[in-house]
Amino acid sequence: MQRLNVIPYPNSVEFTEGTVEKEFLANNTKLTVTPGSMGDEAYRLEITPEGAAVFAATEKGAFYAAKTLEQLLDGDTVPCCVIEDEPAFSYRGFMIDTVRHIVSLEDTKKLIDAAAGVKMNAMHWHLSDDQGWRVQIDKRPLLSEKASVRKASMFGREREQEEYGGFFTKEELKEIVEYAKQRYIEVIPEIDVPGHTTAVLHAYPELGCTGKEVEVAVKQGIYPTVLCAGNDEALALVYDVVDELVEIFPSPYFHIGGDEVPKTAWAACEKCRARKKENGLKSDDELQTWFSNKVAQHLKEKGKTAVVWNDTIKGGTVDGATVQFWMKGKKRTAKYANEGGRVIVSDFFAYYTDYNYAITPLKKTYNYNPFIKGIKSEGKINIAGVETPTWTEYITNFERYCYLAFPRCTAVAETGWTLPENKDEEDFERRFEIYRKRLENLGITPAQKDEWAVPFLKRFTQAKLY
Ligand code: ACM
Ligand code: ZN
Repeated sequence: MQRLNVIPYPNSVEFTEGTVEKEFLANNTKLTVTPGSMGDEAYRLEITPEGAAVFAATEKGAFYAAKTLEQLLDGDTVPCCVIEDEPAFSYRGFMIDTVRHIVSLEDTKKLIDAAAGVKMNAMHWHLSDDQGWRVQIDKRPLLSEKASVRKASMFGREREQEEYGGFFTKEELKEIVEYAKQRYIEVIPEIDVPGHTTAVLHAYPELGCTGKEVEVAVKQGIYPTVLCAGNDEALALVYDVVDELVEIFPSPYFHIGGDEVPKTAWAACEKCRARKKENGLKSDDELQTWFSNKVAQHLKEKGKTAVVWNDTIKGGTVDGATVQFWMKGKKRTAKYANEGGRVIVSDFFAYYTDYNYAITPLKKTYNYNPFIKGIKSEGKINIAGVETPTWTEYITNFERYCYLAFPRCTAVAETGWTLPENKDEEDFERRFEIYRKRLENLGITPAQKDEWAVPFLKRFTQAKLY
């Protein structure tokens, strides 16, 4: 069967007679934008011996047509055809953890270009964690002065005794937002609360349950140093951060984390116990949900919708929030979608590209079905889409980042755009080898084909987790 050399594969392609020379086509392309004529991300591309005609309802649709056309022009000739295309999912994202190791602005822009090239439309920016705080907040200067620096980096086999730190100024954040916007990518910031806050507590120890001094974390892991859910001052800090960041990030969404929150400190804290009592909360999980609801409510007043990791809804729902599924709680997340809640799927076992190819071969990423177990037909519409996170504990340089993220990120982009009946794993591998050059031109070197899977025996004898 004839297939175009395009990633993500278009959802309808009708081949007609003949081919057109690349040079001719590049100089004979017409665009017609008719608002309301089709979906915002849809386009129609007609390639005939007379040239190419693009139809779209928006500039974004036209941009996606251009992204298809530019890949078609990588060949010397282009087959005549009519493409009618629109995405399977409205949300197609990638996540950069710029905490454990900082991904520079320059490299972030390369990743944005790589994502835009395959019609992704969201960048989730993980900006705070136990091991550092990465944004300037004027009202809370200690976050960038103290919380942004750790004394060493002791991540598994990657051990570095040097002090490590840094943060992005507001101007730099805006620069990325603007760069992404020009490529139709929305940047969603994440401030992870109430857990993963060791760095915050280094700067403001009084906001933890014990008030004890703590260092910014230097190792990977889950830390008990969480914000005190019984202390209004802890919420006040989060509100201050939100208030400044909503001015920078125009996205209607704002990620407030909520993953991996150990409850040991809360269980032993007078203030947390009082909070539970006064609000009729029966467990610490409910207390976590209460906390996230407070932040979500604050965001709502700013016109924003909260995004939370799925751990957050263990203690009840967060009003109106988008839930990002990563691990455990699949049934609960499916129920959330079935009952009308918006869900983004980032399954740890398929979409976490910080794990090597022995753990998560390309095949597994490519073939993953975002309609998680338990989704009923009425819930499917609430699976907004897919996102591939790249956590950087063990990623100390951009070369390693790219090796791990590509081609898996590109595979997730195809799942986000292309309907299952139009996907084809073998053909994706073929198309990727042509597309690879585009990534290389951006300064991104993907893993070689023989690294996309690790043979059975090698997997069990040589595979390391990271
Ligand atoms: C996560 O990976 N802790 C969301
Ligand atoms: Zn407390």
